Amino acid sequence: MKIIITDSYAASCREAANLLLSVVKSNPHACLGLATGGTAQGVYPHLVEAYKQQLVSFKEVRTVNLDEYIGLKPDHPQSYRHYMDTYFFDHVDINPLNTYIPSGSQLVQPEITNFSRILEIWPRDVQLLGVGVNGHIGFNEPGEVLQAGVHVATLDEATIKANARFFASEAEVPKTAITMGVGNILQAGKIVLLATGSQKAAVLQKLLTSDEVTTQVPCTLLKLHRDVTVILDRELARQVGVSSRFTE
Ligand code: F6R
Repeated sequence: MKIIITDSYAASCREAANLLLSVVKSNPHACLGLATGGTAQGVYPHLVEAYKQQLVSFKEVRTVNLDEYIGLKPDHPQSYRHYMDTYFFDHVDINPLNTYIPSGSQLVQPEITNFSRILEIWPRDVQLLGVGVNGHIGFNEPGEVLQAGVHVATLDEATIKANARFFASEAEVPKTAITMGVGNILQAGKIVLLATGSQKAAVLQKLLTSDEVTTQVPCTLLKLHRDVTVILDRELARQVGVSSRFTE
């Protein structure tokens, strides 16, 4: 696992964006697995900027997002479709038909089938990830078992509390989401995990300073993938107790 330590969250976002851009530059037809959430938000302005400076085109790029809240329509301000349109898609030359985010407002079972099919026919060259305070990736929450494929997840209490900052109240945070499973995440060619904030230190310690793989800390399953890059700022790296590492 490769660890990149940067000076700041802003620098981490630039680093993550550069990794995504290098994938698109080497393959203009690349498929990007994307993430939402507070951490990933700082990555998208760099992609938009690169497009505006004509350093890259997203015309032939496809994207698949990790997850979507169930019960929110695409135009709800906190839906992940709205997030992606607002921060990225509306500002670049991507074909909207080439962007897939599961729908949280359609019948769930057909949507699971649809999402699974998209993951099969659009293999991801790279998957961007954030991590939850409880170690979740996508909405794969800690538990005795994890699911490999697309499924409906019940959000953990910790996730609801953490995501309440985006809603008027905790009660408004949806309780369920449709998400890629850990098997789907591990199928991406490369994985880039971006993290910031002291509340992520404990789970990153389990990922970066221990050999354990446990469903109780879902991000530890990333140890099973051969091309993972973790990007974190100096402050968080100090709390985790890691330094830069470039092993294959
Ligand atoms: C978002 C996602 C989540 C977030 C995670 C971290 O699409 O799947 O796993 O990456 O909850 O969220 P932030 O960055 O808001 O702390």
